[in-house]
Amino acid sequence: MALTIHNRGLEPDIFGTVNHADFDRSWPLFMQQDPTGQLYYGEIDKVADYVLLATDGDEPVAKAYSAPFAFGSKGREELPATGWDGVVRWQHADRLAGRAANIATALEIVVLKERQGTGIASTMVKALRDNAFRLGHDVLYAPVRPSQKSEEPETPMDEYAWRVRDDGLPYDAWLRVHVRAGGRILKVCPLSMTIVGTLAQWREWTGLPFDNDGPIVVAGALTPVLVSTAHDVGVYVEPNVWVEHRGGSA
Ligand SMILES: CC(C)(COP(=O)(O)OP(=O)(O)OC[C@H]1O[C@@H](n2cnc3c(N)ncnc32)[C@H](O)[C@@H]1OP(=O)(O)O)[C@@H](O)C(=O)NCCC(=O)NCCS
Repeated sequence: MALTIHNRGLEPDIFGTVNHADFDRSWPLFMQQDPTGQLYYGEIDKVADYVLLATDGDEPVAKAYSAPFAFGSKGREELPATGWDGVVRWQHADRLAGRAANIATALEIVVLKERQGTGIASTMVKALRDNAFRLGHDVLYAPVRPSQKSEEPETPMDEYAWRVRDDGLPYDAWLRVHVRAGGRILKVCPLSMTIVGTLAQWREWTGLPFDNDGPIVVAGALTPVLVSTAHDVGVYVEPNVWVEHRGGSA
């Protein structure tokens, strides 16, 4: 399988061939409900140089999203505990203010469900790194979602993120892909994505009854969803892990 990597800024037309709904099937429905995402995906043409598509022949098989943002200035000395949501808000605020960006962040890599488990993920991580460095950034950060954490939602992320196998590589497959590509795990961002809904919405998103209070375990979620039946609200706060990719570190 020889993949071709396309850059949206250089080949905007090729993205017209993509059926995004095919890729949405790779994500649990509740993960598609974070309203902060609109500050990025709603303005995707403004960050087109940071968006990649992999095709196998004519078939789109993976997408990779990133964005530039300003880092190191007052109030932005540290990567935020709010991870994905936080950096999406920063990159949006930078565009509004016309602020120059010095750093890039990865935001999403998604592989077509039928093509998962065939090694495409590492190709996409490398492609995002190379693209960020080509665009003049020294560093690509990533608020990484360790997918296999969903198998143990009660484990604190700060314990899970640092767990390694006998060969010294991360236990989690997705963190492993980043580390193999030259990434370094920095810290947990405990408030990376916040997804809220009424209990009717959570029922629709998950097919679960949502008729009890308390932490509710949901398939595909990295931590339990916090529920109040009296207030008709479910809150999911997803922890992710900040990973740093530096130019020349692979
Ligand atoms: C996470 C994702 C990008 C991985 O892509 P992929 O192309 O399937 O991954 P690869 O085939 O390159 O495999 C990467 C590693 O994960 C492992 N892996 C793949 N699927 C797995 C599964 N279902 N369970 C456990 N490990 C798995 C592979 O064995 C490999 O690890 P190894 O090389 O150390 O053995 C893909 O599953 C996906 O699109 N998921 C939905 C979106 C998402 O979670 N994106 C990541 C956060 S932005």
